[in-house]
Amino acid sequence: MTAAEVHRLREDTPGVAHGIHLNNAGAALTPHPVQAAIAEHLQSEVELGGYEAADARADRIEEAYRSVEALLGAPRGSVAFVENATVGFAQALSAIPFRAGDRILTTRNDYVSNHLMYLSLEERLGIETLIAPDAPEGGVDTGALLDLARRKRPRLVAMTHIPTSSGLVQDPAPVGAFCREFDIPFLVDACQSVGQMPLDVEALGATFLSATSRKFLRGPRGSGFLYIAPEALERGLTPLFPDLRGADWVTRELAQPAPDARRFENWEFSWALVLGTGAAARYALDTGIEAIRDRSRALAGRLRSGLDSIEGARVLDRGPELCAIVTAHLEGATEAWVRKLRERGIRTSWVDRSSAVLDYDDQGVDGALRISPHAYNTEEEVDEALDALRTLRPDTRR
Ligand SMILES: Cc1ncc(COP(=O)(O)O)c(C=O)c1O
Repeated sequence: MTAAEVHRLREDTPGVAHGIHLNNAGAALTPHPVQAAIAEHLQSEVELGGYEAADARADRIEEAYRSVEALLGAPRGSVAFVENATVGFAQALSAIPFRAGDRILTTRNDYVSNHLMYLSLEERLGIETLIAPDAPEGGVDTGALLDLARRKRPRLVAMTHIPTSSGLVQDPAPVGAFCREFDIPFLVDACQSVGQMPLDVEALGATFLSATSRKFLRGPRGSGFLYIAPEALERGLTPLFPDLRGADWVTRELAQPAPDARRFENWEFSWALVLGTGAAARYALDTGIEAIRDRSRALAGRLRSGLDSIEGARVLDRGPELCAIVTAHLEGATEAWVRKLRERGIRTSWVDRSSAVLDYDDQGVDGALRISPHAYNTEEEVDEALDALRTLRPDTRR
């Protein structure tokens, strides 16, 4: 990405004037087109009323679907808008016809809420969760996962592409290929990878893929989406709790699911945020996702090298491929450091052990500072954050 392109990204991002935003794995700064799309729709709701505004702007809403489909390499009609990634993930899980004794196969780095849902399924329905071991270099041992899948024939395989708690990138593609061959549904959590790196649902072999808008995609809070593969729709997979947008009530005994991915949607949600998500997808595509990936990873690399030179700092990111999420254990650091950095205009976040029990217990830490740059950040911002960390250490010992 050229300096002029970075300059343009910053021009489009009013938030950069208000601080150093290195919390893109939490919620990124939204660019102007996203804000405009939301504001225009809200204004239309003010003028016309909520239902009438949605009708009047139906074409734009359709465009939002097309933009997200383009972002994922997904065919028309395969994306459902939902409130957030967790809702999307739960909707997908609810579509699997689990029976007691069935197994879910997953990884040690899957998102905390996903693990909580597996625990709940264990308790309520007697579903067993199998967790594939990690490889010595970090991230799931794909060979061991496939071996478990072959031997245990799970009802579902679920995998988080990029965890919330480290810079690891797991590789879903070989798992997806296996699942396709053996006809096992494959659920991918792409919450942190969407907008951060190119995604192609076909190449990943995903049956379902859940994501949120507010992170690297730079969309609004309170909006997410779920991809459902056309074969899964054709086979009649439906969410356990459809509503009147997801299905038609035909007779007392009969419900007819919507033919496309909308069967996973609910009637009521914010069209303004859907339009904001569509604008974010379009903005990412126009910017170039490879360029976003390369620049944000380069900034993350600069952070990791800087952290390596800070006494008492240990970078926690491990794996064959690392992304734009940097996590570190710093001697004496607690969640209070995030507040201290914020007072200096630098926004980061803290990941508690409870968000990454398996990984952080393995690493022997009870939390980590997470610093997540995006392509719109600058080298100077990264260096300023590193300088702040160097000076913060003695402060905290007072
Ligand atoms: C990997 C991953 N999956 C899922 C989620 C949940 O996303 P949401 O809060 O939009 O439901 C997060 C949020 O941090 C995440 O990092």
